[in-house]
Amino acid sequence: MVNVNLSGCKSFVEDSQYNTFIDKALEAYDILESETGAGNDFLGWKHLPSQTPESLIADCEAIRDEWKAKGVDLVVVIGIGGSYLGAKCAIEALSHSFSKQLPKNGPEVVFAGHTLSEEYACELMDLMQQRNVAAVVISKSGTTTEPAVAFRYIKQYIEKTYGTQEAASRIVAVTDARRGALKSLATQEGYRTFVIEDNVGGRFSVLTPVGILPIVLAGFDMRAMLKGAAQMEEEFGKRCACNPAVQYAAMRNLLYSQGKKIEILVSYNPKLQYLGEWWKQLYGESEGKDGKGIFPASVSFTTDLHSMGQYIQDGERMLMETVVTVRNSNRSMTIAEDPQNLDGLNFLSGKHIEECNAMAELGTKLAHIDGGVPQLAVSIEKIDEFNLGGLFYFFEKACGISGYILGVNPFNQPGVEAYKKNMFALLGKPGYEEQAKALQERLK
Ligand code: PA5
Repeated sequence: MVNVNLSGCKSFVEDSQYNTFIDKALEAYDILESETGAGNDFLGWKHLPSQTPESLIADCEAIRDEWKAKGVDLVVVIGIGGSYLGAKCAIEALSHSFSKQLPKNGPEVVFAGHTLSEEYACELMDLMQQRNVAAVVISKSGTTTEPAVAFRYIKQYIEKTYGTQEAASRIVAVTDARRGALKSLATQEGYRTFVIEDNVGGRFSVLTPVGILPIVLAGFDMRAMLKGAAQMEEEFGKRCACNPAVQYAAMRNLLYSQGKKIEILVSYNPKLQYLGEWWKQLYGESEGKDGKGIFPASVSFTTDLHSMGQYIQDGERMLMETVVTVRNSNRSMTIAEDPQNLDGLNFLSGKHIEECNAMAELGTKLAHIDGGVPQLAVSIEKIDEFNLGGLFYFFEKACGISGYILGVNPFNQPGVEAYKKNMFALLGKPGYEEQAKALQERLK
């Protein structure tokens, strides 16, 4: 269901070079499968699709139904990074583009805790005051500042509005089984909790309750998503040069070795904008370390061809593109004939708008190849739960392989801590006094 097409790279690499990187990818694949590499205590994501119990989905659906019966029409999902992007990506991809403007059967899911913007917080309060609210707070560590700050004001609002006892039934926590401030708080307040297993890192957690609960609450079919992912778990479990995850990992590393330092994830459907955000975190946090790593960027075409197109076509030649192609549109509309033809568009009469999109995609591919940008293509049949599940799993598997080809630990993120220490020191967190003094000196 997820296919990889590397024809857009042919003119940039020799077959022998590609075969060398396929060998490297198969070695990396062996490390991943034998669980002998760095970060091997974070490989729980590999078997989530086939091993997620039915009862987990049923529990999430029970909360959805209970909140629906209470008339809840706004669910605030609180989390950042891996505790936010997977659900955001799936919900954006699966929702009607104008769902906010259309009457909705079921609650609206909005996100918080992924920013420290005060304006965002105030505007969320404005929204909550108009609506019947419940919240899901997600943090594996249970100590991340952004979601903790958001949870504090959202919890206070829910308690003040509905009373402490009712609030406990309107708040669900997704966190570690034992550790962290959120776990203690949830236990003390009597919240229902879902566990993020120790062996799944944040950016690989979309198929855990981190993604499952918000996606179910938004009204989507998590069983189909897990089914699609399980199919890919089986398919990408094959050790061969024909494995799409092996091919993608091999080619992007080969191109990187030739100076293509930036990989742009491209989609031709605005619903996939957050796929780019999710993918950037997955690859950026997994590979950007030890002074190495492809810099992941994303664009939405054809929109961004009118902003980034010039650079991609003609700027510094350090780019490769990975296009996520959707083979079939879920909706259908043709361009009508206009007797006057003042816009000169009658040559398009009767054609589907998606055909124009497909020709834009093909034309861009050829133009970018001519301009020195190799193109990898990853395709799915259509945007639905099943295909999205497969796509999530594809990129995760390829990421593990790719990180091992690069020679890094794809499952840690030591670099994320640096800003946090400085922020805590500058905010006066107890225990950071010395660091605060040093930072204040530097800022003079
Ligand atoms: O991938 C990761 O590990 C990070 O992006 C985390 O998901 C993010 O920092 C949020 O962490 P937590 O879930 O502990 O609040």
